[in-house]
Amino acid sequence: MDTCTRLGLLLSVMTAGAVPLAAQNSSETSATPAAPPATSEAPAGASSSPLIARGDAVFHGPGNCYACHQMEKKELSYGTLGPSLQEYGKIRKFAPEDAKAAYAKIYDAQATQPCSNMPRFGHNKFLSEKDMKDLTAYLFDPESPVNK
Ligand code: HEC
Repeated sequence: MDTCTRLGLLLSVMTAGAVPLAAQNSSETSATPAAPPATSEAPAGASSSPLIARGDAVFHGPGNCYACHQMEKKELSYGTLGPSLQEYGKIRKFAPEDAKAAYAKIYDAQATQPCSNMPRFGHNKFLSEKDMKDLTAYLFDPESPVNK
């Protein structure tokens, strides 16, 4: 096989692999809470990013929070029964007591608002403690897409 044929083969293998991948990516962009791309501004060794990604997955998955709340700026579709949670941690200056209050809210929305329309996720054992902690990281971590 001459070099030219080999190069041609190599190219066709590469494009064949690239097309489905690109198609897959574009169909997933709106729904997939992919890990944020490594940018130069991300601090090296930021250990909370797996928590953020997991919190994002709970928010858009079993927690169904986006049915009532706006979160990330890039989001095109969300419910408005609850207040927007965009920049939730940033607005609260990432204060630990506010993070605790957010956890408590997720645990039992009716503890502070007796007729809240928000489900009592922890009280009713619908979400695990880990789910709710990850959600709190998603809301409060400065590196979370919520606070960008
Ligand atoms: C059925 C609609 C609904 C769903 C689903 C829902 N919420 Fe809420 N949420 C509300 C409403 C309404 C309020 C405002 C009333 C209140 O404070 O209880 C609220 C309030 C909040 C607040 C306090 C906002 C503030 O003003 O400080 C936080 C934090 C919050 N929700 C987080 C979540 C998270 C995280 C989830 C997913 C696990 C979620 N919510 C799911 C309706 C919802």
